[in-house]
Amino acid sequence: MIKQAIIPLAGLGTRLLPLTSVFAKELLPINGKPGIEYILDECIEAGIKEVIFIISKKKIMIKNYFYKDKFYKKIIAKKKDTRIINEYKKILKYKKMIKFVYQNEPLGTGDAVLKTKKYIKDRFFLMLLPDDLIVKNNCSKSMIKIHNKYKSSVMASMNVDRKTVSRWGIYELNKKINKNNYSIKGVIEKPSIKKAPSNKAVIGRYILPKNIFSRLIKQKPGNNGEIHITDAIQSLINENYKFIAHNFSGKYLDCGTMKGYIKSSLEISKL
Ligand code: G1P
Repeated sequence: MIKQAIIPLAGLGTRLLPLTSVFAKELLPINGKPGIEYILDECIEAGIKEVIFIISKKKIMIKNYFYKDKFYKKIIAKKKDTRIINEYKKILKYKKMIKFVYQNEPLGTGDAVLKTKKYIKDRFFLMLLPDDLIVKNNCSKSMIKIHNKYKSSVMASMNVDRKTVSRWGIYELNKKINKNNYSIKGVIEKPSIKKAPSNKAVIGRYILPKNIFSRLIKQKPGNNGEIHITDAIQSLINENYKFIAHNFSGKYLDCGTMKGYIKSSLEISKL
């Protein structure tokens, strides 16, 4: 069973400047609700019991968001507003399931994952990248079902325009398992159009094996000097670990860019 999820949140959010110059991008409202709450709701609905947030000192604001008890209690004591009471109850529910670890230097997603090593209990865990919202269908829940059936790692996949392959992790597929699932032969982080083995991109949902930590410890920095989770996944595939690419059926919203962020509010308001 997958009971733990990790969420890397130490990123600087430069693609969303100036909104992120003094504010954490994951707290920016998307149709009136912070982006991170959509991610937490997806986890809860998928049966996740514990979520590990990887933050940095610069993003302590994210922790503060869940630790405003005194403030809420004072307000609620003064006026019995049911909306505020319900919001506070929700915050308390989230707070109970969140643990915080720190990544104070932006050394990449692989490095962020490594910070959670001592907290991961089971053989597999879920990772969600907060820039990637998937609505209409719970992608984590579908991936956990596939994991339970095939007992392997699973990653979300989506077809992208060939011209944009250098923006994503790109899969080299092996065999078709069924309509929406393929076994993976390889995965390469942000390749050039020439080097891209397909137009199938990695979207930010991963069910990873605990063994990935020992590969990450040895992992050399990849392009832009960062430690990429993609490279550690490739090491495991080379050792014959099975990874499945799941073509999810929900709607993908890219909240990490200004254009995508604005569009995501519009799309969610239509749901
Ligand atoms: C990360 C991953 C990349 C993946 C992408 C999905 O890139 O490294 O493999 O395709 O998320 O959004 P980033 O968005 O951090 O540049």
